[in-house]
Amino acid sequence: MMNVGIVGVGCISGIYLKNLHEVFHELKLIGVCDLIRERAEKAQKDWSIPKVYDDMHELFADPEIDIVLNLTRPYQHYEVSKAALLAGKHVYSEKPLGADLAEGEELVALAKEKGLIIGGAPDTFLGAGIQTCRKLIEDGVIGDVIGGRCVMASHGVESWHPDPDFYYQRGGGPLYDMGPYYITMLTNIIGGVKSVYGYARTSYSTRLITAEPHVGEIIKVNTPTHIESFLTFDSGAVVSLLTSFDIYNTRQTNVEIYGTKGTLYVPDPNYFGGTINSGAKSVTFFNGETKKAVEIPLSFDYSNNSRCLGLADMAKAIEAGRAGRTTYRQTFHVLEIMASIMKSAETGAPVTLKSHFDKEAPMDPTLPTGVL
Ligand SMILES: NC(=O)c1ccc[n+]([C@@H]2O[C@H](COP(=O)([O-])OP(=O)(O)OC[C@H]3O[C@@H](n4cnc5c(N)ncnc54)[C@H](O)[C@@H]3O)[C@@H](O)[C@H]2O)c1
Repeated sequence: MMNVGIVGVGCISGIYLKNLHEVFHELKLIGVCDLIRERAEKAQKDWSIPKVYDDMHELFADPEIDIVLNLTRPYQHYEVSKAALLAGKHVYSEKPLGADLAEGEELVALAKEKGLIIGGAPDTFLGAGIQTCRKLIEDGVIGDVIGGRCVMASHGVESWHPDPDFYYQRGGGPLYDMGPYYITMLTNIIGGVKSVYGYARTSYSTRLITAEPHVGEIIKVNTPTHIESFLTFDSGAVVSLLTSFDIYNTRQTNVEIYGTKGTLYVPDPNYFGGTINSGAKSVTFFNGETKKAVEIPLSFDYSNNSRCLGLADMAKAIEAGRAGRTTYRQTFHVLEIMASIMKSAETGAPVTLKSHFDKEAPMDPTLPTGVL
């Protein structure tokens, strides 16, 4: 049993709170805090949480807490994670690890110096959909991976998020916000990335909020919102990745992986499950030999929204002394890939990565749900 404290009880906290209480019984939530205290108090009431703290420093000083779950906005991750590490706590952060590469480098160096683990989201790649795709690829079903195409196209978040400003500031934008789902999925099914090329633009300088409570307010856009990129993997595979908040509609699939024996339609990596949505129980493979698409059943657990799975895995890894599946080894590689895409977009030249990534162990499908 590892004890958790949450900093930031905003939009995404609901699913973490639910799964902490209903699915992952190897974790115990001790307390929460938020700059808006009522949010922490509401969570306490809804889930009978033992403690509400006045601020994050009071939470970090609590000897009962083993791991800090950082659910603040991207540009706040560094400040919160750094203070937690300095106070001697392990950290699991929502994505991205930092709002830029320097922040990520400093956090990783600090964690190493303190003998602590920093890890983080996303954890959708540990779900049934992506784990099944990884196994199909590792079993040779699609042959050698030639490459792939990924498209994350939307018209932004100001139509639904109650506080959408941060999506258009440093550490936001479609690459830093949604890229982690796609890149983490890719590194887990194909392997580490060795170089990238990027192109970026900002199509709208302002955004009109149409969701309550800020409806009618204007956001000034301070980060690129349409980013095209090419990722070359250690294996030689080349994948194109488009992330955009500027596109009204597309008919492109989220992820296609091309192999020498056929095409694998990988489920949307923002979800845990199979082909169509979170609940679907299969993935689709177009067999080049038979020239037919076949549905392949999911062979792993966690096809519903299982956010918190990565935290549960990191906690168990710390306790058991095994390698974690969601630690900085991965989140830093993903951050460096994104930072390098942006650097390439600025310079017009490809960027070779410094960090190296080897896949962690796949999920163990024989364990009961909620046990890592
Ligand atoms: N909203 C989503 O659908 C979603 C989905 C997946 C991941 N995420 C990620 O989750 C993170 C949070 O997103 P969100 O949508 O919940 O944002 P949000 O703005 O709704 O919530 C963030 C909360 O953190 C609090 N906070 C900030 N600094 C704090 C501090 N120092 N101490 C205490 N509280 C502090 C804020 O008051 C706020 O309540 C982001 O990294 C985002 O990328 C969000």
